[in-house]
Amino acid sequence: MDGIEPVAAALRRARGVVVLTGAGVSVESGLRPFRGRDGWWKGRDPTTLATPEAFEADPSLVSEWYDARRLAALAAAPNPAHEAIAELERQVVGAGGRFLLVTQNVDGLHQRAGSVRMVELHGNLTVWRDHRSGQRVTPGPAPFEAYPAPGPDGGWLRPDVVWFGEFLPQAALSAAAVAVASCDVMLVVGTSAVVFPAAGLVGQAAAAAAVTVEVNVEATPAAVGHRLIGPAGEVLPRLVREAFKADPR
Ligand code: OAD
Repeated sequence: MDGIEPVAAALRRARGVVVLTGAGVSVESGLRPFRGRDGWWKGRDPTTLATPEAFEADPSLVSEWYDARRLAALAAAPNPAHEAIAELERQVVGAGGRFLLVTQNVDGLHQRAGSVRMVELHGNLTVWRDHRSGQRVTPGPAPFEAYPAPGPDGGWLRPDVVWFGEFLPQAALSAAAVAVASCDVMLVVGTSAVVFPAAGLVGQAAAAAAVTVEVNVEATPAAVGHRLIGPAGEVLPRLVREAFKADPR
C-alpha cells in the first residue's frame, strides 16, 4: 500500500480528527454492504427497501429484511477496523486532541469495539419504534414472531433508522459539521460516498484545509487527498500502529 507514512504523520500532528464510516467497515465482520451485488437480499436491491414508500407498500418484506440485518448485527463481532478506530480515538483524546467518529452504519459495532465519541447519522438497527406513536423498544435476540411486528401503540414496529427521504437526526448532523469544520485529518472509511449529506462532509473537510484520506478496497468518487486502497481491517490497524506505535488489538 502506498502513502501510509504521510497519513500517519498527519495523524500524529493532528489536533482534530474525524472518521466517517460506511457499510464497508463491517464487511470483514460478515455484514453485507448496501451497494453492489453482495448487498442484495432475496433478489432485492437494499436501496429499494430502505424507504418509507417500500415499508408502506410491503411492511412485511421490509420488516423481515431489517430483522435479518438486526440479527446478523447482533451475532457479528467488531473486526480490526472497528478496533483500530477505537484505538485512534484513545490516542487522539489521550494527547488532548478532538475526535469524532461519524458513522452511517446502524449495526452498533463501533460502540461494541469501544468507540465513545461518535454520532450515528442513520440511526440504529437494534432499536425499533411504533410507526404511529414513535415509541421506541429494544427487541430481544430472537426473530420477530410476525412481519410486520405489532408496536406498543397499535402500529407496526419499524427500525429506528433513517430511510431515504427522511430527515437525519439534527444533533448528530450538527455535531458532525462542527467537528469537520475544525478537523486537521478526516478518514473516510468503507463508504461509497454517494449518499448525502454524509458524503458532503468530505468536501467540507477539504474546504477546512484538512488532510482527507480514503480507506477503501476501491477508489470512490470522494475527492480526497490520499487513498489507502485495501481492506479496512488491514489498512487501519497498520495506519494506527505506524502513527502511534500502538497495537490496536
Ligand atoms: P455502500 O454499500 O454504498 O458502500 C460500501 C463501500 O465499502 C464500498 O465503497 C466498498 O468498496 C467498500 N468496502 C467493501 N468492503 C470493504 C472493506 N473490507 N474495507 C474497506 N472498504 C470496503 O455503503 P455506504 O457507503 O455505507 O443509508 O452507504 C451509505 C448509505 O446508503 C447507508 O448508510 C444507507 C445506504 O442506503 C440509508 O439507509 C439511509
